[in-house]
Amino acid sequence: MTPTDQVFAPLPHKDLVTVAQLAPAEIVRIFAAAAELKRNRREHCDVLRGKKLAMIFEKDSLRTRFTFDVGMQDLGGGAVFMDHRDARIGSRESVKDVARNLERWVDAIVARTFKHRVVTELADNCSIPVINGLSDYLHPCQALSDTFTLWEKWDGRLAGRKMAYIGDGNNTCHSLVHAAAKLGMEITVCTPEGYEPNAKVVSSALHTAHETGGDVHVVDDPEAAVAGAEAIYTDTWASMGQEDEAEERAAIFHEYQVNEDLMEKAAPGAYFMHCLPAHRGAEVTTGVMDGPQSIVYDIAENRLHVQKAILVLLMNR
Ligand code: CP
Ligand code: NVA
Repeated sequence: MTPTDQVFAPLPHKDLVTVAQLAPAEIVRIFAAAAELKRNRREHCDVLRGKKLAMIFEKDSLRTRFTFDVGMQDLGGGAVFMDHRDARIGSRESVKDVARNLERWVDAIVARTFKHRVVTELADNCSIPVINGLSDYLHPCQALSDTFTLWEKWDGRLAGRKMAYIGDGNNTCHSLVHAAAKLGMEITVCTPEGYEPNAKVVSSALHTAHETGGDVHVVDDPEAAVAGAEAIYTDTWASMGQEDEAEERAAIFHEYQVNEDLMEKAAPGAYFMHCLPAHRGAEVTTGVMDGPQSIVYDIAENRLHVQKAILVLLMNR
């Protein structure tokens, strides 16, 4: 095996549905592959030569759609976009039948769905890799890109680092909590009452954290949450599918804005992180979003490299 073959050796999983399924060493393998693909972007243009990815999207996307498509092209393959924003997958024919058809034509599927169960149903009903491109419950590709970006910034030393997530205990938050715990980080999630992360996610992450030396806290006071944190993360207050609640949520969440005052209370030079799209003036101020501590575009760039790594480690068999 050449060193590159080793970096691109397949993971022992068919699918990537959740960060929780990955061992810490497997996350580091994804990071190593992403780093190689980023360093030598034009050199690995044959790794997935001729392979095809189906992209099933029930929701809007800029980053996920673009980076999976460009990623497949970079690796010598191609992607076919299936727009399900008007009719959800499963409405014309069953999810199971969609999976059984697609596996005859393509080599992998990325799915962005409302119900998380649709992703797992696709995965359970076909022999090809299924990648979760965001569900209402989880956003694993995002969390792997977020933590890869910190891994780059902190020279691979993530264990023991403190981060805070301020805002809604949503899909992005859930996968970030999984990833932070796997990597031995201490994550504090701060939400208004009633918007906490899913209790199962927190208890499974706490269990992981006991093994990795990390920790997970759930609090409701933003100033206490950011104290000592070296990375501050936020996401929209109303996720896709919650548009009707946007006004009500804005009133509830207004004290949870990541602004200059809150960043002052974090560790000096703490990074500002956001999965994007961001709403300047709502969950984050323009000054923080566009300020020197913001690494949001580095994260967005890394979506490409990390997802290429995921594609290679799942499809290159
Ligand atoms: N962060 C993220 O997943 O962006 P998109 O919704 O644009 O894909
Ligand atoms: N929580 C957001 C993430 C978007 C990338 C949503 O689900 O809309």
